[in-house]
Amino acid sequence: MSIPSSPRRRPWPLLPSSRRTVRSVVDGAGVPYRFCSSSKIALRNALVALGCPGTNVLLPSYLPPGVVEPFHELDVEPRFYRVADDLSADVADAEARLDDETSAIVVVHYFGFPQPRLDEIRALADRHDLAVIDNNSHSTLSRRDGRLLGTFGDVGFTSLHKTLPVPDGAVLYFNGPCVDPTERLPLTGVRDRYTCDDYRYCAGAAASSAGSVGEAALELLDCLRNGDNKPYVPPSDDPLGEYQRSKVRMSKLSSTALTRIDPVAVTVNRRAAFARWHHHLSDDDRFAPVFEHLPPGVCPWFYPVVADDPASLVESLAGAVSAFAWPTLPSGVRGDPDYRAENERSRRLVLLPAHQDMTPRDVDHLAARVR
Ligand SMILES: Cc1ncc(COP(=O)(O)O)c(C=O)c1O
Repeated sequence: MSIPSSPRRRPWPLLPSSRRTVRSVVDGAGVPYRFCSSSKIALRNALVALGCPGTNVLLPSYLPPGVVEPFHELDVEPRFYRVADDLSADVADAEARLDDETSAIVVVHYFGFPQPRLDEIRALADRHDLAVIDNNSHSTLSRRDGRLLGTFGDVGFTSLHKTLPVPDGAVLYFNGPCVDPTERLPLTGVRDRYTCDDYRYCAGAAASSAGSVGEAALELLDCLRNGDNKPYVPPSDDPLGEYQRSKVRMSKLSSTALTRIDPVAVTVNRRAAFARWHHHLSDDDRFAPVFEHLPPGVCPWFYPVVADDPASLVESLAGAVSAFAWPTLPSGVRGDPDYRAENERSRRLVLLPAHQDMTPRDVDHLAARVR
């Protein structure tokens, strides 16, 4: 069974060229940037640009393992600082772990919500002469005080494929004087032609929403602009292989789609789905929402909830949507008693989909299965 379908939409007319698109949002940040195929590759480039190889870098302990692959490859020692239950950084713990060889600190905005300790992390970095790497992998369109997340660090980045209907991609922002934005960086830029993967993505997205081949072709434009999206698939259990495979330039399809996707529609729909999950689950004793409020400016990635019985929550939605516990922690954190709280949380924190193609009614149907 798939998500209860919403009424079939007609493909929208092409956006007029004056219309705001995701591409214009990224351009409007006013920060030099490069495209990469993924946030992992953006992070790799950030570590190189900041001269981190041979040093150690502080990063949050609450992460999927793939994020640490660039560290292993570049001989950067990851030092994991603790992350509290509200996903705020433990800045005192980070400070206790740094030494003369520490070159940078990574800050993460979880699920598109601004990291609550961002200012303290900036202050810590200034005190110890560290660069700040602003990891906003989770949501391209989220802002704090009107400014895009990912643009707060000396270097920062955001994944395009997590919250937008595109097959791959990330934006790497250069904000600080320690990076020369004109420097040549490997694995940045856009491929100059469409590939089989691009066509396969389009076919998959269209097939998931259209009944006939003719209609599928028309619906394709709609898929790229705002609506039908292949749901996010959690990383495989082969983080190294996945990292190696992403060592290519960003697809031409993602680059084209950015000039057609309506950022307001994506944000409005994602916020509505998030709010609907909250309406259904926030008063249910079996679940504790990670975020009690949805501040203005946030475009959420998922609706994360801590479940008493995560397996039965995941099971109740199986076959309808993909819900899963997150994350599989990196080695050095997974199973380490020093990070007991993170290990416990990663077993119980379940991500419920809040993507732009869902309507509040879809969420109602899904929530009914949970009860
Ligand atoms: C905090 C964080 N950073 C980076 C990444 C990697 O993103 P990408 O899949 O674009 O490489 C992830 C993946 O989930 C993540 O959660």
